[in-house]
Amino acid sequence: MQETPAIIQRVRRINEHYQQLDLAIEPSLSEIRAGQSILVRLNDKWEPYLREQWWPVGFGKEMLVIERPLEIKYQPGQSLKVLGPIGEPFLFRRTLRHVLLIAYDTPPTAMLGMIPMLLANQTSITVVLLGEAKNYKTEHLPPQVEIVHGDSDLQWPGRVMTVGLADQVFAVVHPDDEMLRFRKIYDLFAELRAEVSRQYLFGAFRPVLPCGAGACHACMIPTKQGAKLICADGPSLDLSQVIFPEAKV
Ligand code: FES
Repeated sequence: MQETPAIIQRVRRINEHYQQLDLAIEPSLSEIRAGQSILVRLNDKWEPYLREQWWPVGFGKEMLVIERPLEIKYQPGQSLKVLGPIGEPFLFRRTLRHVLLIAYDTPPTAMLGMIPMLLANQTSITVVLLGEAKNYKTEHLPPQVEIVHGDSDLQWPGRVMTVGLADQVFAVVHPDDEMLRFRKIYDLFAELRAEVSRQYLFGAFRPVLPCGAGACHACMIPTKQGAKLICADGPSLDLSQVIFPEAKV
């Protein structure tokens, strides 16, 4: 992984909350896949702030499509410094008919990069937007993607059927307490299914990444296979293998 320059080529508003940037990248970054991200510094000059983590939602030849909040101003021609790719791509089962994506009190952006590939492979997709995620507008997503809205208590219409149909599940949660929220999702699936098998239910962790290079260990998550670094082994971890803290009584 190395730092490379990138240039914002186009900026387009997609709704009242979000915009998409076409980001021209160096060929060395072209192998980036859905699930991996980039750490971005907006200015050439040194600054004390951490880099921003950006999640590609589209992939082109030496180009990434990035979704960002509309209130941040970007200009075509703006140059950036990019560190990446961060982490590993999402892993999919070989036989996949239906994928369930869950966004729990947070936008689903980090998972959207997998949608074009899944649709190209004839995989159907349901996106469940829970709680604050219901504010995320979805008109720009492909019409084949089913959108379901639910509440912060993890209730949504047709929940038993949605869970039963899913061959694989990916989730993102509000980063205020990822372990607690992923634990709730894991418990829900354990309740609704006879068993939560391995390689079935994944959480895409998004902790702050101070170094992004496996050096500081700030992004460590305990699992049954030992500690994992989200910037190197993540972002997605098999929730059946994560060691969650004991619930407080
Ligand atoms: S961010 Fe430093 S080790 Fe992961």
